[in-house]
Amino acid sequence: MTMLDGIQTQALADADIASFFPSNFLWGAATSSYQIEGATREDGRGMSIWDHFSTLPGAIAGGETGDVAVDYYHRWPADIALMKELGFNSYCFSIAWPRILPDGSGPVNEKGLDFYERLIDNLLAQGITPCTKLYHWDLPQALQEKGGWENRDTAYLFAEYAEIVARRLGDRVPYWITHNEPWCASFLGYGIGVHAPGIRENQWAVQAAHHLLLSHGLAIPRLRAHVKPDAQLGITLNLYPVYPADDRPETQKGVAWVDAFKNRWFLDPIFRASYPQDFFEEFGVQPPVMLADDLTTISAPIDFLGVNYYSRTLVRGRTEEEVQEHGGSSKYEEVAGIPSSDYTAMGWEVYPQGLSDILMRINRDYAPPAIMITENGAAFNDELQNGSRVHDAERTSYLREHISSVANALANGVPMKGYFAWSLMDNFEWSEGYSKRFGIVYVDYPTQQRIVKDSGRWYSSFLTSQSAT
Ligand code: FCB
Repeated sequence: MTMLDGIQTQALADADIASFFPSNFLWGAATSSYQIEGATREDGRGMSIWDHFSTLPGAIAGGETGDVAVDYYHRWPADIALMKELGFNSYCFSIAWPRILPDGSGPVNEKGLDFYERLIDNLLAQGITPCTKLYHWDLPQALQEKGGWENRDTAYLFAEYAEIVARRLGDRVPYWITHNEPWCASFLGYGIGVHAPGIRENQWAVQAAHHLLLSHGLAIPRLRAHVKPDAQLGITLNLYPVYPADDRPETQKGVAWVDAFKNRWFLDPIFRASYPQDFFEEFGVQPPVMLADDLTTISAPIDFLGVNYYSRTLVRGRTEEEVQEHGGSSKYEEVAGIPSSDYTAMGWEVYPQGLSDILMRINRDYAPPAIMITENGAAFNDELQNGSRVHDAERTSYLREHISSVANALANGVPMKGYFAWSLMDNFEWSEGYSKRFGIVYVDYPTQQRIVKDSGRWYSSFLTSQSAT
């Protein structure tokens, strides 16, 4: 039990919540290259799978693309100045592989490296610690044409790309993340096809996931060889605490299965050099094709785990009869529409306690040396008032309650090192296009004007109270 257990955190003052965090805690927000940069055809950038996918009919709500996005490629100095003003001491962003290697491999585009070097130097000059992600889903399209993550070669090419970036930027970036959410990149991209490259074949998703994990493991030693000796390396997973909706045996089985599918599919190979038992059989697929040493490679020691958290999963198992009634497909269902719960504009349940629960569970079962929240946030239907204010009280409350949940985990001994809100500003939300706003800064798309929302103002004042403790 800690001070925060059982306390209504709404009753705590910001300064009380802040006092749980050490002074070297990393605070900021996260973004990703395709979602914000735009300038997709500038300075030698090659095409990515999202450039291609977003032009497919029906792929993106409103038929939108990331061609312009929030024009960050041109506006980043002002955006960094805004981060400084908000009080961030860190910033987590991704590098676009096709800016560095337009064809995925082969000639290096120096202008791409120059861009990120300028950005990083500017952050450092402002006292903002860069946390650099190497892959947030924008695979070079040229590699997709050779099979993308289906093709084992892509894993080796990723490690080469990682080394090229580390050779240029390794002397100044202290935090490195190989991949963001390989579950989404594989399952959403190759299993249900709602993300690029839009393939719908679970067997392919399993193979793509294996190659993503392999690429992570191959990249770790290549990064270590070129980054500063005290640089910290990690990978980011999207994780969900899974709870039973009732105490029937079918539900217990359902919880175990959903946990394997959403969490252990990636946690186990990284920390235990194995895939969850019976996972592939239950999924109705064959295990991925792999070589003898792959799992050893994948489980290369890391310095921290990045956790992206948005919501929980509540599971209800189905009896044999119910499975038949539902066409013989799924043995469980995810319970939605809980009357007592609040939901975001994405339809995701707001469940702050889940963050602390999943953090404590990861710490207990996998004991990573450190954990960072690399994304946490919410989309709501924001309205710009008088051209100058966005009163997004629900987002402020979401952030505050989740930060309190991190404080609870910290007080319970979880080695938390940082928290990055998703996102700095509204951006291209993948298949939702620009219809879903996650920013703590509002973007008026026609003018590209940035307007700090009330949640951004709150976060900034919270960070001020934090740095005062
Ligand atoms: C995560 C993604 C991020 C953003 C948020 C809402 O899964 O990593 O790019 O889309 O969801």
